[in-house]
Amino acid sequence: MSQDYEKFIQNIKKKTGIDLSLYKEAQMKRRLTSLYEKKGYKDFEEYYQHMTSNQMLFDEFLDRMTINVSEFYRNGKRWEVLQEKIIPKLLGQNKKLKVWSAACSTGEEPYTIAMVLSNFMPLSSISIHASDLDENAIARAKNGTYPERSLQEVPAEMKNKYFTKDGMFYKVDDAIKKTVTFKQENLLADSFEQNYDLIVCRNVLIYFTEEAKDTLYKKFSDALRPGGILFVGSTEQIFNPSSYNFETEDTFFYRKQ
Ligand SMILES: C[S@@+](CC[C@H](N)C(=O)[O-])C[C@H]1O[C@@H](n2cnc3c(N)ncnc32)[C@H](O)[C@@H]1O
Repeated sequence: MSQDYEKFIQNIKKKTGIDLSLYKEAQMKRRLTSLYEKKGYKDFEEYYQHMTSNQMLFDEFLDRMTINVSEFYRNGKRWEVLQEKIIPKLLGQNKKLKVWSAACSTGEEPYTIAMVLSNFMPLSSISIHASDLDENAIARAKNGTYPERSLQEVPAEMKNKYFTKDGMFYKVDDAIKKTVTFKQENLLADSFEQNYDLIVCRNVLIYFTEEAKDTLYKKFSDALRPGGILFVGSTEQIFNPSSYNFETEDTFFYRKQ
């Protein structure tokens, strides 16, 4: 690793607690280099110096490193498996489910979970914990306004029931919003609550180093109750689930033993 980038990592860790060394280096470095070059800085050192006195530069850095892309019912087929196979089984074991959307970005994922669960119980009995590193993403999640392209995979029935069109945008219903509690959390640094029935963590593990992933799978496994499920993204298969006490329940779904 170049000294310039290494120093930058140390500075960011001191300032924010975010440890960039746990993210894949080539990818992260490329993304940040193109950002500072566009701003006219010559290296990470100069970029960081300016960042310390310019909040906007800092926010832009956070925005670039977090990548908040999301959508409702992302990889629709997987949500069908959740609805038809996983949730009925979990509800056979526990009437009230403890659910966490980890790295929830702008809210599409936890709101999708709420819509899926609404097929099984009244919204008033649903309570979902949702967290992300990025406070701006959480603010947008709480606001709950989305462009049409985020809704492409939403089943028509859910779209009619839980969204209101507002000009070019769609607003998610307050009753759905009320099922979700958002919190700013760093998956790579904070401790987790325990006894979850379902943890949904999708499309963030791909950015982490193998060591960071390894630690995180262990922490997720510890945070689930026996029989609980971890639902990962569609490029994030776990290759050695048994070493984390997981059994494959279906593609991209792992059951804690
Ligand atoms: C591509 S989005 C995925 C959103 C959603 N889970 C989905 O699958 O559509 C990745 C999210 O991970 C969050 N993230 C990155 N590093 C994180 C960390 N260390 N702790 C918590 N969230 C993190 C980013 O802020 C971003 O919102």
